[in-house]
Amino acid sequence: MMAMIEARSCERFKRLSEGLNDAYLAKFYRRFMESEAGHYTLFIELAETYT
Ligand SMILES: [Fe+2]
Repeated sequence: MMAMIEARSCERFKRLSEGLNDAYLAKFYRRFMESEAGHYTLFIELAETYT
């Protein structure tokens, strides 16, 4: 469940970063997207390890 929540955040930040004309803000949200990608993959790894 946590992986799904993080993946949805990742998706939203990706779409936000791609839709902005402001280069600074696009990069800002792109970094959030990268961070969320790390979170959801971590939760998947944890689930695979402990199930
Ligand atoms: Fe997160």
